[in-house]
Amino acid sequence: MPHSLPANTAAPRSHAALEEQYEAYPYPTRDPREEDKRLVTGSPSHLAEVEHFVFRGRVPAGRSGERPLKLLFAGGGTGDAITMLSQQLADRGLAAEITYLDLSTASRDIARARLERRGLAGSVHFITGSLLDVAELAPGPYDYIDCCGVLHHLPNPEAGLAALATVLSPEGGIGMMVYGEYGREGVYPLQAALRALTAGQSPAAKVASARKLLAALPATNGLRRNPFLNDHRQSDAALYDLLLHSCDRAYTVPQLAALIESAGLAVTSFMSPAAYDPTWWVREPALLKPLQDASLVERAAVAEQLSGAMHVHIAYLARPEQAASRQALTVDGPDWIAMPGVNFDPQLAAKAARGGKGLSYNILGVSRMLDLPPLAAAMLERIDGKRSFGDIFAEMNASGTLAAPLDWDKQFAPQAARLMAALVPAGCLLLRRKD
Ligand SMILES: C[S@@+](CC[C@H](N)C(=O)[O-])C[C@H]1O[C@@H](n2cnc3c(N)ncnc32)[C@H](O)[C@@H]1O
Repeated sequence: MPHSLPANTAAPRSHAALEEQYEAYPYPTRDPREEDKRLVTGSPSHLAEVEHFVFRGRVPAGRSGERPLKLLFAGGGTGDAITMLSQQLADRGLAAEITYLDLSTASRDIARARLERRGLAGSVHFITGSLLDVAELAPGPYDYIDCCGVLHHLPNPEAGLAALATVLSPEGGIGMMVYGEYGREGVYPLQAALRALTAGQSPAAKVASARKLLAALPATNGLRRNPFLNDHRQSDAALYDLLLHSCDRAYTVPQLAALIESAGLAVTSFMSPAAYDPTWWVREPALLKPLQDASLVERAAVAEQLSGAMHVHIAYLARPEQAASRQALTVDGPDWIAMPGVNFDPQLAAKAARGGKGLSYNILGVSRMLDLPPLAAAMLERIDGKRSFGDIFAEMNASGTLAAPLDWDKQFAPQAARLMAALVPAGCLLLRRKD
């Protein structure tokens, strides 16, 4: 069911203002030469997450003898996600046919230059146009669609997600990100003030006015009091995106769920799952007991209310009848491979676990100790995204450092499952099946 805009949201304008912004200020700001030094990684659309949360631990195509995977980057921008996923697929030897779609030619040129720098542009089809017209421009069907930071800028986000759903293959999935309402405290009053103060100015003059205003704000201002939003300090494009956008709305979890439902889709997982679990934020089991039979979305709605800091929502989606069964489950055999997630280094984690200090993880300002099993350090130091748990089991038993050989059923498998139960919710490790 379509939902209405919250009262603090900018009135949606036409495509024209949006195109003008992203032609003048492609966002995020990226220099293709940086590709020689580092790969920007993030959520959604990190290959480990896509395999775990969308494809039960195994992408449905792309191996030798199979058809290529079909991927769409809808509102691909300056190319963060398309560059990351293309590189990760190439590293794994998985073939893909990739479509990039965006309104902005300036953004497209940056995305293309980044992919060219890595020798990855050959499998990408670049299209300039609106995702609302995707069925005509690039009908797919796609195994996976990335739509990150785009829908909340559309005058009608429901129409945008519905258009993407029509080109999604029946077994396919979507990774999406939209702004979160509560964590963007301070943004919308300042956007409104800037609209009043900069009406009629050019984009560059608006940026200059906004910078001056930011420097002059009182300590009571909502954005100044919000420690989780710092994007506007990075670049003019980031400042424009945060404070001067012509069309921008934010979502609570129930509003996001309504958007997703309106497109005939359902959430397979929020990202990271731990952030959307109320027990991360409040460690009083008795208080949270009324939620024990609540749905994923109902629990997520309370989690964001308790956190108060979620400024974006990332979710993986599939058709409702499949959503509950799309996740990789647990280590129920030797062929599962643990894949490091965004910014997680298993070697560093092994060091922390070995030192006996345990492993702490921080989500939006709240740190928790993760409950690791006794074999965690020995497992983590062997986790590289290539060895399976079967390989790790064999290596540990052959290492000569154990008093007695490990038993798979009694010791290793339950502890591997416990390791994953601690690290999957934080998005640190994900599972894929050996090819
Ligand atoms: C904030 S940027 C996000 C870019 C990229 N997805 C990322 O996460 O880095 C939003 C992008 O969506 C594009 N966009 C906005 N409305 C669109 C539409 N209707 N169709 C296609 N692209 C659109 C803009 O041109 C811009 O490049």
